[in-house]
Amino acid sequence: MTILVTGATGAVGRHLVTTLLARGADVRALTRKPDDANLPDGAEVVAGDLADATTLDPGVFDGVDRVFLFPAQGVDAFVTAATGRGVHRFTVLSSLAAAKEFPRDHGSASQVHHTAVETAVTDRTDAWTILRPGTFANNLLSWAWQIRSGAPIRAPYLASAQAPIHEHDIAEAAAQTLLSDNHLGEAIPLTGPQALTRSEQVAIIGEALGRRIPLVEITPEEFRAETAQFIPEPVMKMLLDYWRDTLTVPDVPRPVTAVTGRPGRTLAQWAADHRADFEPA
Ligand SMILES: NC(=O)c1ccc[n+]([C@@H]2O[C@H](COP(=O)([O-])OP(=O)(O)OC[C@H]3O[C@@H](n4cnc5c(N)ncnc54)[C@H](OP(=O)(O)O)[C@@H]3O)[C@@H](O)[C@H]2O)c1
Repeated sequence: MTILVTGATGAVGRHLVTTLLARGADVRALTRKPDDANLPDGAEVVAGDLADATTLDPGVFDGVDRVFLFPAQGVDAFVTAATGRGVHRFTVLSSLAAAKEFPRDHGSASQVHHTAVETAVTDRTDAWTILRPGTFANNLLSWAWQIRSGAPIRAPYLASAQAPIHEHDIAEAAAQTLLSDNHLGEAIPLTGPQALTRSEQVAIIGEALGRRIPLVEITPEEFRAETAQFIPEPVMKMLLDYWRDTLTVPDVPRPVTAVTGRPGRTLAQWAADHRADFEPA
């Protein structure tokens, strides 16, 4: 049995490749840049763009019976090619936004994108598992520059509380769904184990670094003015809506334990794993 991992050089994908190899699976890893992939020797690296079937390595689906699908824009091309070659079993990386649990999700950039990715699969096969993680702990890497340089973080809604998930836990959940038949037909919400205010999240990174990180609360309007050149408006709206809502209704944890059988990694664990990202060069 060969498992094809797409998005294999990404944060989730790298952990997934390593986890699957450690569990004895044959792994083929798709990337647009095979020469830069730097994946473990045990993985067979193949070239291809998920959005352009003409770029796919001719042998990409040979012997493959399961696929981890990274939610790239335009992924229909890849799913059509895969099912056309007889591959019908997918674990899809989606987003909790696609569950449309809150009014803010309906029509949000993430919901629209991830619903399209999910549909690309569910329209073509019945053998799927969809993973719907909430906010990634890796989003906190957007503060890496300030933390490295000692500049204060300027952020709105510091009392709002989210449950960021470690990318390694998503990968382990994905591995479990690819290696067993226990979760077929399920769309599974996943979050970190604990809702933490944004102030607490910064303090936890500070604890991992052994220093206090300066933090300044600004208004949503100030945040928009200071970051609009870096954040497209649909994403800006999504972020501000999320932080505003989680001021009064914190994220409810959706532990990975239901899939992996293990407690989810804490944010303190994530911060320890990413200490190098926040240390001065
Ligand atoms: N951030 C959040 O809070 C959040 C929440 C829910 C869901 N998500 C979903 O999770 C994704 C991020 O996952 P991640 O952190 O593992 O990603 P990542 O670290 O950004 O890596 C994505 C990988 O996918 C590959 N890729 C991208 N477009 C591709 C294409 N067209 N064809 C082939 N490969 C392609 C890239 O590999 P190569 O360059 O090597 O080809 C890249 O290494 C988001 O994009 C979003 O869809 C995110």
